[in-house]
Amino acid sequence: MNITVIGRGRIGSGLGRLWQSAGHQVTALGREGGQAEESDVVVIAVPGQAVADALARVKGLNRQVTIDATNIYVPRTSAHPSLAHEVKSIIGGPTAKSFSTNFAALYDDIARQRVRPSNLYAADPGAREVTEQLITDAGFDPVFAGDLDQAARLLEDSSALTRAIASQIGPHFYRYGTAGGF
Ligand SMILES: NC(=O)c1ccc[n+]([C@@H]2O[C@H](COP(=O)([O-])OP(=O)(O)OC[C@H]3O[C@@H](n4cnc5c(N)ncnc54)[C@H](OP(=O)(O)O)[C@@H]3O)[C@@H](O)[C@H]2O)c1
Repeated sequence: MNITVIGRGRIGSGLGRLWQSAGHQVTALGREGGQAEESDVVVIAVPGQAVADALARVKGLNRQVTIDATNIYVPRTSAHPSLAHEVKSIIGGPTAKSFSTNFAALYDDIARQRVRPSNLYAADPGAREVTEQLITDAGFDPVFAGDLDQAARLLEDSSALTRAIASQIGPHFYRYGTAGGF
């Protein structure tokens, strides 16, 4: 796939590296913005409060399948029910929330695990296939939490739990599975 990642910090550059290794073509755009016209998929990896600003600097955003990886640690100012909904209101394509509950600091350790770590995601029906593929290509096991309207905000709000656990044990993987799946 031709992937444009907006934000080239820990998440943006880390995912870009993993996806390039899996054979995808990745363009990472920084604060200065750029072009996304040619992309099949757009991934958002900027601070949650910078979403509108970051997307305003990118030309060619036009209903692509979109994956939003953002979290927010300051009070929300947007009227949207979730950051993913804010992203969707700008780009307009089928949208997923994913990679927001997994630590970038562990990306280099994914391949060394005994079983694939889970990656919780929420998605519009039209974004599911691409999102599952890119989660898998990054080395994770996709776990569907529900449609975007139902579950994107739940995933964003779960960052408080993730941080609470991290304050005890540091950056960590997690795994959800049905009986017999472990
Ligand atoms: N790090 C994690 O483990 C983790 C896990 C899950 C979710 N997340 C979420 O993923 C997002 C990215 O996190 P990160 O750790 O990759 O952050 P980061 O390392 O601080 O990188 C953020 C990137 O966003 C860019 N940026 C900041 N403000 C911008 C603006 N106004 N317009 C355009 N670009 C802007 C930065 O550009 P400059 O380089 O020019 O500053 C940088 O490339 C955040 O929403 C974070 O909450 C992070």
